[in-house]
Amino acid sequence: MAPIICIDGPSGAGKGTISQLVAQYLGWHLLDSGAIYRVLGVACLSNSVAWDDIPAVVAIAQTLPVRFEPGTEGMRVLLGGTDVTQAVRSESGSRGASAVAVHPEVRSTLLDWQRTFAADPGLVADGRDMGSTVFPAAELKVFLTASAEARAERRFQQLLERDENVNFPRLLEDIKARDARDSERDASPLCPAEDAIIIDSTLLSVDDVLEKVLALVAQRGIGKRTTG
Ligand code: DC
Repeated sequence: MAPIICIDGPSGAGKGTISQLVAQYLGWHLLDSGAIYRVLGVACLSNSVAWDDIPAVVAIAQTLPVRFEPGTEGMRVLLGGTDVTQAVRSESGSRGASAVAVHPEVRSTLLDWQRTFAADPGLVADGRDMGSTVFPAAELKVFLTASAEARAERRFQQLLERDENVNFPRLLEDIKARDARDSERDASPLCPAEDAIIIDSTLLSVDDVLEKVLALVAQRGIGKRTTG
């Protein structure tokens, strides 16, 4: 089995950025599991399927024609032949992901597929339940968190850079609502795996967090560079 590093935590904690940098540093594969839930929410919308219509959502999840391809500004997400990168990253993409992710039937449909991303030389898996459910035997599990205010502020800046029309109080409210939905659901709720190392990034820069994660990687002897 390929070695695995799980980076779980709430939205806006910096998991995506840190996972990408760790994967790049090690020359490992990357699984952005949130993108899978996001694209599923978007696919439901484009097929006029309600996010709470469980059998219909499962049917779409079973044959989701999604491809992730490296683009000039990070990963491009293709659904069928259509580029849905913007739609999956929008606030409606976030709401759809969180709404379809509450259903245990949907989560179990996506489980085996997520596990197929574990391949040599190794995998960095970014999500909510990577360490607790999808890869319980991972070599390293990090739970990256930050205050809701710090996460909303980071998201606010990101959306401003993309010229999206945003409102900070609404964003903070959305983040809190999504945290509650992700943490209180019965299926794979958002919580650190028992053996996860918790890092609070509220007052840390990206470089500080990366340094901490790479120190853990090195301590456990899983930091051997395989490329470059
Ligand atoms: O990481 P993200 O913000 O792209 O995730 C979007 C939503 O998907 C989030 O609200 C919760 C859900 N999700 C999940 O339930 N389990 C995962 N492993 C990843 C994401």
